[in-house]
Amino acid sequence: MNELSATPAEAEAAVAFLQSRGLARTIDTAIVLGTGLGALCESAADQTSLPYSEIPGFPRPGVSGHDGRLVFGALEGSRVAFLNGRVHYYEQGDAAAMRVPLQVLALLGARTLILTNSAGSLHSDWYPGSVVVIRDHINLSGTNPLIGLQSDSRFVPMTDAYDERLRKRLRTVAAANGISVREGVYMWFCGPSFETPAEIRMARQLGADLVGMSTVPEVILARWLGLRVMALSVITNFGAGISGASPTHAETKEVALSGSIGVRRLLRAFLRPSDD
Ligand code: HPA
Repeated sequence: MNELSATPAEAEAAVAFLQSRGLARTIDTAIVLGTGLGALCESAADQTSLPYSEIPGFPRPGVSGHDGRLVFGALEGSRVAFLNGRVHYYEQGDAAAMRVPLQVLALLGARTLILTNSAGSLHSDWYPGSVVVIRDHINLSGTNPLIGLQSDSRFVPMTDAYDERLRKRLRTVAAANGISVREGVYMWFCGPSFETPAEIRMARQLGADLVGMSTVPEVILARWLGLRVMALSVITNFGAGISGASPTHAETKEVALSGSIGVRRLLRAFLRPSDD
């Protein structure tokens, strides 16, 4: 069981380390870049970055396609920190693996967390390459990143986990830029094996639109930290058995890369200041 502490001592140590290196910056928005989305932070202005491996308390991602760098920069005038690469539950069985990075970003001033991921589609007409904004999630994995926390802060309300105002703004921005975006419910499977066709049929019957192996633990942690959350998925494949699909990691990586272009455009437009 993880020893989750309500006092962010490890995160404070990480912030002190960043300050000692002259790297700590005040930020408005934190963005977690999933598979294939690393290019978004490359276009940020006035960048500084550090590998997770050099930052105390940060985890070490071990999946190809996930870099593991903390990047500070400016995007469309917004002060942003990117977590380029995440650690998944299936790597070490630790659902709280991204706790310290998220706490650090909250300590640096982030109010909003934008998560990106790749996901399998549960609809035969939600095609690979499409972008979906997550409206809600289903976690029947049996685990939770807040297990082990002692204080009552662990009883985090999840009713409005995916911020309504952020989703509304995203839809407006998408329409204004001619980018089509769906909204859907994401069901977390802990992986690393892909789902069976029977699990995919179950997910569909339970009301899910997408399946994936990430994001949900980070959303729970972010809500615990009081961050507003928005999450975007790039559909990389049909779920197992849908239209005969049998997803592979190679396929998801390849499609995530090409499908990420829409998400990158969308996020830049989202971050641009507007009058509303
Ligand atoms: N299942 C789980 N995770 C995924 C999938 C999928 O089909 N596609 C991309 N990530």
